[in-house]
Amino acid sequence: MVTDNREKKKAETTAPRLHTLSVLSGKGGVGKSNIAAALSFALADFGKRVVLIDADLGLANLDILCGVRNARYNIAHLIEGSRTLNEILVHFKTSERATNLNGAVSLLPGGYGIKEIADLDEYAMERLFGALSELEDMADYLIMDAGAGIHKGALSFAYASEMTLLITTPEPTSIRDAYGVIKSLGAAAWQDSQDAATGLMLVVNMASSSREAQEVAERIRLASMQFLGNAPMYLGYVLKDDVIERSVKNCRIFYRSDPDSNAGICVRNLAGDLLRLCEGTKIEHEEIPPKKKKGMRGFLSRLAQTLFSDKKQGA
Ligand SMILES: Nc1ncnc2c1ncn2[C@@H]1O[C@H](COP(=O)(O)OP(=O)(O)OP(=O)(O)O)[C@@H](O)[C@H]1O
Ligand SMILES: [Mg+2]
Repeated sequence: MVTDNREKKKAETTAPRLHTLSVLSGKGGVGKSNIAAALSFALADFGKRVVLIDADLGLANLDILCGVRNARYNIAHLIEGSRTLNEILVHFKTSERATNLNGAVSLLPGGYGIKEIADLDEYAMERLFGALSELEDMADYLIMDAGAGIHKGALSFAYASEMTLLITTPEPTSIRDAYGVIKSLGAAAWQDSQDAATGLMLVVNMASSSREAQEVAERIRLASMQFLGNAPMYLGYVLKDDVIERSVKNCRIFYRSDPDSNAGICVRNLAGDLLRLCEGTKIEHEEIPPKKKKGMRGFLSRLAQTLFSDKKQGA
């Protein structure tokens, strides 16, 4: 009996706690980076330790967006093995809301001229994977800004993550491209299990009202259901808000400077719903999507599976 309890306790303490979440879109410029960064700070306000990764390799700009001037090192140093994760991470002060909690945000900045993850050689990939595996104990949430489009890099992060936020705006072009991502994720060569479409959630950004956002999400869900036989759940929305454009111009994250703006409140709602999802509680407006296994090990093995499956095929 005592041994049983000890075993149970040991399993609980060694079970992976890290949640991996990628943020991507079909069309560019729909608000991924802003939402990824704002969500990180909102989760920190709820007491979570968050590592934010600029996984939009080659087109990285999260450091500028977060007001980090001249980040000394970036993901390129990690890939070439010249710096450690601890030397590269940029730590932020969280807002006053978080003073009683232990929440924190750290950024792994991206770099310029880095190859797409799928094109990295074996040794570079090994160094990257080795460094990422250290995050298991450092964070509760790993949030990756995975970029736009249906190129392999973005889709690999989406496939590997426990959860993926697919960002769209109400514009028809953005809606069409979001559907394109859902289709590509389903049709990707590596998808040989039901797993690939799980954990995919829609977020409608720049909505003029909650009603408009809901209608946009419903259109995408209906088309997905009809033509692909599966649909991502709708997580929520962020209202169109001038505060974001102003903050971007001033190299500030709107959630830090204006947490109670319309957009700030929306992001806090998204963070709250995500936490409830991750803790397994039903949220009001949706069913819970089936989830992939959490933890860094699961993430890295799915990432390797997606990246190497093609290499094998091409070989
Ligand atoms: N909710 C919003 N309300 C008003 N403007 C917004 C909102 N979200 C984003 N924007 C505007 O859209 C611009 C693009 O946002 P962001 O850089 O986050 O998009 P992105 O999807 O990461 O772009 P890219 O595909 O180039 O990486 C911002 O500079 C901001 O001006
Ligand atoms: Mg971006």
